Amino acid sequence: MAPSVLKVIWKVLILARFCVLLADAYQPNEVQDPSPYGSLEQDSAEQQERKPSQANSWPLRDDSYGDISSIAVHPTGELFILHRGSHMWREDSFNASNVYQELDKGAIPEDVLIGVDSETGEKHHHWGRNRFYMPHGLTIDEKGNFWITDVALHQVFKVDPEQLEVAMALGEAGVPGADKTHFCKPTDVAVASDGTFFVADGYCNSRVIKFSPKGDFLLQFGRASQPGSLSLSPSPSDSLNIPHSLALVENYDLICVANREDEKIQCFTAGLAVRKPDDTETAGKFVLQVAHPQLSRVFAIHYTPALNKLYAVNGVGFSLQDKPLQIFSVDLSKNDIQAWNPEEEGAILSSPHDITLSPNGQYIYVADLAPRPTVWKFVNDDFKA
Ligand SMILES: *[C@@H]1O[C@H](CO)[C@@H](O)[C@H](O)[C@H]1NC(C)=O
Repeated sequence: MAPSVLKVIWKVLILARFCVLLADAYQPNEVQDPSPYGSLEQDSAEQQERKPSQANSWPLRDDSYGDISSIAVHPTGELFILHRGSHMWREDSFNASNVYQELDKGAIPEDVLIGVDSETGEKHHHWGRNRFYMPHGLTIDEKGNFWITDVALHQVFKVDPEQLEVAMALGEAGVPGADKTHFCKPTDVAVASDGTFFVADGYCNSRVIKFSPKGDFLLQFGRASQPGSLSLSPSPSDSLNIPHSLALVENYDLICVANREDEKIQCFTAGLAVRKPDDTETAGKFVLQVAHPQLSRVFAIHYTPALNKLYAVNGVGFSLQDKPLQIFSVDLSKNDIQAWNPEEEGAILSSPHDITLSPNGQYIYVADLAPRPTVWKFVNDDFKA
């Protein structure tokens, strides 16, 4: 009885906090078409109590997976898993200049990209041996291209789904940097329907870079947060401390960033919908943020247009107060946030590192990095066929 009362109180608290933050930051004139999915306006109270249920015969665990850093669903419905095989990110993997110290030991000998049947988990595709050193982010665009970041190589790769060949490589292998042709441990890619893409860069740079579909640098935004600052003034709305995951919300023309160490999600203009008359590139104007005490370190975000919801997972924190590891959904049309956890016996998230949904929003997948690499699958009750 007590836990359910707590749950309700907590929900009210986070909702109140979220609305305040949203009200502070929200600039309706920046947003295109604020409520394109009218059907979601109904059945509010009832919907709040429903939680996604764990899919039968999941989670997926298999000794052949190394640390699972990312997951993404292909337009065909196949789930792809990006794992690190026999490589592990250790304390001494990088030196103080962010140079990976084990390049001479060679690339991961195992295939790092595994395609599995979204119903059975059976492996259908495998690719990517002897190429990657510390793969981090996997994104699959609308055309089915794979986008992979490697924090050890400091590079971003676009992989053609037909040939399974690298079609584009950005950054210089093994060389960290902060200019237009280098990254420093880039974490994630988000690809717009017109092919324009954004790179979160990353563990050591505090920026998001916008590229043309061909890979030309267009612009960057974001600046370093001041950790441990005693200043009472709020940190600038474009400050980032490990942009760890990206989500494009094209119907609002927003690019959202999981700002991991600042424990919030910030959304900026993406500059896709509105082109200036002189065709100059814009992006990176702060629009809104999602933050509340339970969110803690935000490891990954994913936006599903079919539901107009932003999903997130948090990770183990360094603070003394332990925040529960949870899965969050933010309804952008109702300014509403929910949090939940797998409830089945033995279903415990250990180090959630990525979240993704099937394109229609029916299934939610969560990847636990380690110590037992796991992919969870949930059936989304918000989904209406
Ligand atoms: C890190 O390693 C690279 C190459 O191994 C080296 O050039 C650089 O000086 C090292 N940086 C530090 C701080 O040790």
